[in-house]
Amino acid sequence: MTDKLIRGRLISFKRAPLSLTDTESYAYEHDGALLVADGRIAAFGDYAAVRSRAPEGIEEIDHRPHLILPGFIDMHLHFPQMQVIASYAANLLEWLNTYTFPEECRFVETDHAARIATHFYDELIRHGTTTAVAYCSVHKTSADAFFAEALKRGMCMVGGKVMMDRNAPQGLLDTPEMGYDETRAVIAEWHGKGRNHVAITPRFAITSTPAQMRAAQALAEEFPDLHIQTHLSENHDEIRYTLELYPQAKDYTDVYAHYGLLGPKTLLGHAIHLSEREADALSEAGAVAVHCPTSNLFLGSGLFPMKALMRREKPVRVAVATDIGGGSSYSMLRTMDEAYKIQQLLGERLNPLESFYLMTRGNAEALSMVGDIGTLEPGTTADLIVLDAAATPAMKLRMETVKTLPEELFLLQTMGDDRAVIETYVAGNAMKTAL
Ligand code: GUN
Ligand code: ZN
Repeated sequence: MTDKLIRGRLISFKRAPLSLTDTESYAYEHDGALLVADGRIAAFGDYAAVRSRAPEGIEEIDHRPHLILPGFIDMHLHFPQMQVIASYAANLLEWLNTYTFPEECRFVETDHAARIATHFYDELIRHGTTTAVAYCSVHKTSADAFFAEALKRGMCMVGGKVMMDRNAPQGLLDTPEMGYDETRAVIAEWHGKGRNHVAITPRFAITSTPAQMRAAQALAEEFPDLHIQTHLSENHDEIRYTLELYPQAKDYTDVYAHYGLLGPKTLLGHAIHLSEREADALSEAGAVAVHCPTSNLFLGSGLFPMKALMRREKPVRVAVATDIGGGSSYSMLRTMDEAYKIQQLLGERLNPLESFYLMTRGNAEALSMVGDIGTLEPGTTADLIVLDAAATPAMKLRMETVKTLPEELFLLQTMGDDRAVIETYVAGNAMKTAL
């Protein structure tokens, strides 16, 4: 019997907020409750109303005065890079070659992959992330470890065995055939098992030959419902080298378009330095540009023009992510703090309602999964977090002067981290306090 009543201040977005005063964009219950039955949200509303519908003797958990939100969604990170975070490098390509590729070679070992997978999910839960979209390593063992641990914890995860057949150490290379066969094997073993979703994952144009790109294209044609994830236009040297390797391409985006890899389920990490033509191409395909602010600042990659891309005549779909281990924090709150600062530097405003929308419903929409995750709407899975905007002494002091909900959310985003996450529920089960 997993049914329970979870009481607190509820907030769930209905659509993208248009301004800081757009109260129609979200549902808020000051003394609210969620009725959770069989791992799903059965009712959302005022505590007294939901209580009256709940069975007699139901377990009640009182999180007042804290906020209850849908769990955060992290749209791009690398499971084998937990021990790469905080590596001192001048830029992306140096960081990949010096630290990242050697570290990923270790994931050929089943025991190592399983050990890191345990830490990976612990860290997600600690930070309030209930769904993530991850790159595994080139080794099938890493994808097996990633999905086995997700299944054990009942979490909704998207991930892929990386395809890469050049420009990396021998221990990190497959071939076009291996990349195809092993991705197919991962799909057969894991896709649809529990809440697991497999993504077709060519790492980026630099590490895939044209023959491997064709293999990725074949997979995309055979499995049109699967997500595709790769990297795009993160760094100027990366862009230059890509165009040397694919001289016939109009630009970096055209490499992926040429192989049929651009569509509404395509997630493109970074996409910082796009031409107008490339932004049009993403918009027309419905592909998603995934913003990774802590990584872009850490590696000095550039300032992602998020607001400018969103308000184009042909808008580009945008999502947000940590990009562990190029990124420097597992926390989506820290991530949105850095996203805010990047827009400040570009002369743009990113308001806290937009930030919280992006971390929850926005990312779920970008994944085409809003029927299951990203909101507190009845019928969706009860992946929830409980946030305390007075989690530290400094936050508590600042909370004394906070008067509105947007102010409270902005404080959480600006000063919050894993300490602000009081509880993380996955399918109605309390996971954080059980760690
Ligand atoms: N481009 C190709 N691989 C990677 C990676 O692992 N991290 C980042 N930030 N960019 C990449
Ligand atoms: Zn990445």
